[in-house]
Amino acid sequence: MSKKFHLGFFSSFSPPAWHAATDRAHGEDWWTGDYHARLAQRVEEVCLDFLFFEDTSAVSRTFGDSMDTDLRNSLSAPKNDPVALLSYLSALTSRLGLIATASTTLYPPFLLARLYSTIDNLSGGRAGWNIVTSSEDEAAHNYGYDALPPSVARYDMADEFVDVAKQLWSSWEDGAVVRDYANNVHTDPSKVHAIDHVGKHFKVRGPLNSLPSPQRVPLLAQAGGSPRGRDFAAKNAELIMSTTIGGIAAMKAFREDIHARMKAFGREPSECRIMYATHLHVTEDGRDPRETVTDREIASMLGKHAAHLGVDLFQYDLEAPFPSDVTANGTSSMLDSIKEKGRQGITLRQAIIDVCLGDDELGVRGTADQVARNLADVMEQVGGDGYIIMATQNANAAHTDAILDGVVPALQKLGAVRTEYSGATLRENLFAF
Ligand SMILES: Cc1cc2nc3c(=O)[nH]c(=O)nc-3n(C[C@H](O)[C@H](O)[C@H](O)COP(=O)(O)O)c2cc1C
Repeated sequence: MSKKFHLGFFSSFSPPAWHAATDRAHGEDWWTGDYHARLAQRVEEVCLDFLFFEDTSAVSRTFGDSMDTDLRNSLSAPKNDPVALLSYLSALTSRLGLIATASTTLYPPFLLARLYSTIDNLSGGRAGWNIVTSSEDEAAHNYGYDALPPSVARYDMADEFVDVAKQLWSSWEDGAVVRDYANNVHTDPSKVHAIDHVGKHFKVRGPLNSLPSPQRVPLLAQAGGSPRGRDFAAKNAELIMSTTIGGIAAMKAFREDIHARMKAFGREPSECRIMYATHLHVTEDGRDPRETVTDREIASMLGKHAAHLGVDLFQYDLEAPFPSDVTANGTSSMLDSIKEKGRQGITLRQAIIDVCLGDDELGVRGTADQVARNLADVMEQVGGDGYIIMATQNANAAHTDAILDGVVPALQKLGAVRTEYSGATLRENLFAF
């Protein structure tokens, strides 16, 4: 490999294996935190940069105005709060980066800034914040709103939110805490400042009332896909995540587009890492799991994405292309991908399999060695910064072992990924190469 790339592991604080074809009882006492603690320790043993937790905050009624489909299939519930989980994982790991998702549309900036500052302190500088604007009106209903603001307005609000949070994280100067016993001064008042922010969406006096943390600002991650979302990411994020949908050409185009947008904001491309969420299928016999998807698995895939899109996908014919005139206020880039596949004559069944299990072009199935070689080849062509390996609700023992005991060591043998942590903080590790 000409250049090493980074790896993250994608998870959710929810039943880990419910959507798997076999061994669905794996990790069924996940809510104790012990399943994810063991996972974090294993991910740390193989030196991945970070463990990532997605999040949403509603039981979805996207399907016929009923919660039945969601609850029966464990689509968006049960799901516990991943930020709370990070404090537990902080104590049980020492080098691994820990990223959790929280919404700029639903959190107040002060609460969020204080929370992540605390996690960064607890973990010794290993915290990351995946900035989302939320995609489900049902989440808005839980926070006192009738609906989410439109997508573009959500990102406008998020810009101001991140600005406020950064001001709060800077509100204590270096050296503010003096612990001067002789003069009875714990914190030097001249080094702690109100921010007096009065903006369009937020009014925050500050300063933060928590101690500045090792990274001061948690690593800022984001995955905007729409033009406005990409601008938001290019302006604010240090880790930008996309998918492998559309294959190498789309991955390359995304990277070039983000770099151009970063330059327009006066940032250098080297200030950000671009990583691609990918599904891996390790099979000794070369079997393509995309050809044996059961109806139950299809229902899970449709249901999960319907909630994110805000579109009841069950009302459409699975064997026909998805109509191109459907509009919604959820994850707009994902809806565009499914509509584009429809325009190409691809059925909804195949489109949802592609979205959930990965386009075949990347060749991320085969033996662990084959998968590793393909991942390395693709990254060489894309010129990107790495992958986030998806394992949510299909992470039974076999799947997790195949990745952590098979694919990652094979990538290490190729010299494609790290074999030891060089930095102390998440940011130091992610920007080490
Ligand atoms: C790797 C990855 C992780 C994501 N995690 C979350 C998440 O935890 N919660 C969420 O609401 N959206 C999540 N999203 C969705 C994005 O934040 C964003 O809403 C989506 O890419 C659509 O962007 P757009 O609205 O700009 O089209 C994720 C997307 C990707 C690619």
